[in-house]
Amino acid sequence: AARSPDDLRCPVTVIMGHVDTGKTKLLDKIRKTNVQEGEAGGITQQIGATYFEKKTLETQTAKLNATEAFDIKIPGMLVIDTPGHESFANLRSRGSSLCDVAILVIDMMHGLEPQTIESLNMLREKKVPFVVALNKIDRCYAWKTCKDTPIRDALKEQEEGTISEFRSRSADTKLQLAELGVNSNLYWEMGDDDWCNSDFIPLVPTSAITGEGVQDVLMLLCQMSQRKIWKKLMWCANLEATVLEVKAIDGLGMTVDVLVVNGHLREGDKAVFCTLNGPIVTEIRGLLTPPPSREMRVKSEYIHHKEVKGALGVKVIGNNLDKVMAGTPVMIVGPNDEEEDIKAEVMSDLTNLEAKLSTDKVGVLVQASTLGALEALLQFLRVDTQPPIPVSAIGIGTIHKRDVTKISTMNEKGRPEYATILAFDVDIEKDAREHAVDMGVRIMTADIIYHLFDQFTRFMDELTA
Ligand code: GTP
Ligand code: MG
Ligand code: NA
Repeated sequence: AARSPDDLRCPVTVIMGHVDTGKTKLLDKIRKTNVQEGEAGGITQQIGATYFEKKTLETQTAKLNATEAFDIKIPGMLVIDTPGHESFANLRSRGSSLCDVAILVIDMMHGLEPQTIESLNMLREKKVPFVVALNKIDRCYAWKTCKDTPIRDALKEQEEGTISEFRSRSADTKLQLAELGVNSNLYWEMGDDDWCNSDFIPLVPTSAITGEGVQDVLMLLCQMSQRKIWKKLMWCANLEATVLEVKAIDGLGMTVDVLVVNGHLREGDKAVFCTLNGPIVTEIRGLLTPPPSREMRVKSEYIHHKEVKGALGVKVIGNNLDKVMAGTPVMIVGPNDEEEDIKAEVMSDLTNLEAKLSTDKVGVLVQASTLGALEALLQFLRVDTQPPIPVSAIGIGTIHKRDVTKISTMNEKGRPEYATILAFDVDIEKDAREHAVDMGVRIMTADIIYHLFDQFTRFMDELTA
């Protein structure tokens, strides 16, 4: 069927910004959840996905829409949460590549920070329209809480001193943005056409804790979707899907979280995925989603589907999924397709990563939970560590005995310091641990990427001391 302006899909919205600006908290506010407090170290280290139904968008903008009278036509919204920590540039890059619109979160108390600028550049490069949330407005002097209130109403309740701090902080941010060539303004001080038909960026003060301005952010995203990028959002039957994460779930085995942007996935489809060992072809045995307004990276009571339609985040169940890599495309072999062509297309990204490994085959083994985390680690070891830490092999998922055997060869090569596995956010089999002791292999583990790097650097310093 032809694409039609009356059949829009959900916009994929990515939320980006510097670490601890309040991205996850902002989503928690909309979801009425508490995902952020369950995160290791309070930082996000994975891409997340939450689907909001149209009725949620309507109820969560109701107070504001009493005056706006804007008719929401998009069927819902899929929001992708990204990490702000500097190590995860690749996940931010992936998020910004996957999305239609974005929220750039700035901590109003800090102004622009390094990953704000990095995120901004990614969004500009990919020409993604976005709103800026000037978050933590509740930290302005003597802020009076106006729970979940549209921002202009909340500002009316504030004393002079609070308003003047808010004015001066938002003016500072505006100036910092202008220095980077970005025109912006408080959104209600702009004409409608300013931000719909030009590249002026609307600024929305928010509090992720008390909820002021959150209605405004949602409303702007809906308006942006329907007025600015509706052509892109006309639903298309051709499958466009990407692996977000690969995860073992109790009782389900290995599952793959997939972002389906366009087209359908159906139970029984013959799907092709990318792994380190080449493409795999497998039948889709199940399609699960968390309930609406629940984060996909948090285990929940899943809903089973026979078929899903983009845009949606879905957990795919099937055989042989344990080696599938995050960030790679998913394709379906249709009745008229050559399986070999589909396989080749699915594999094309990985080649780049492997090209970056140590060419003389001397270096540590890096094992991570996802391709994204692996890319981040490799980037970190290659660029951000001085001297760079060479990597001879990479792997995704649980560490097995064979991985230990593989890297133990560094001892024979006379480079025992590289008989080391840097393991990020992965499990280690019991016999792999025992084997490591026998073979003189160190396994360094961490659930925060830069801790791994610290451990290895300390170890190298001790060696050379
Ligand atoms: P990363 O995912 O690690 O990049 O961080 P994030 O941007 O998701 O920030 P997160 O939601 O983890 O919030 C960081 C800290 O700021 C937490 O302690 C939050 O409680 C706090 N915080 C977030 N938003 C607000 C806000 O609007 N007001 C105040 N006062 N604190 C906030
Ligand atoms: Mg977060
Ligand atoms: Na955080």
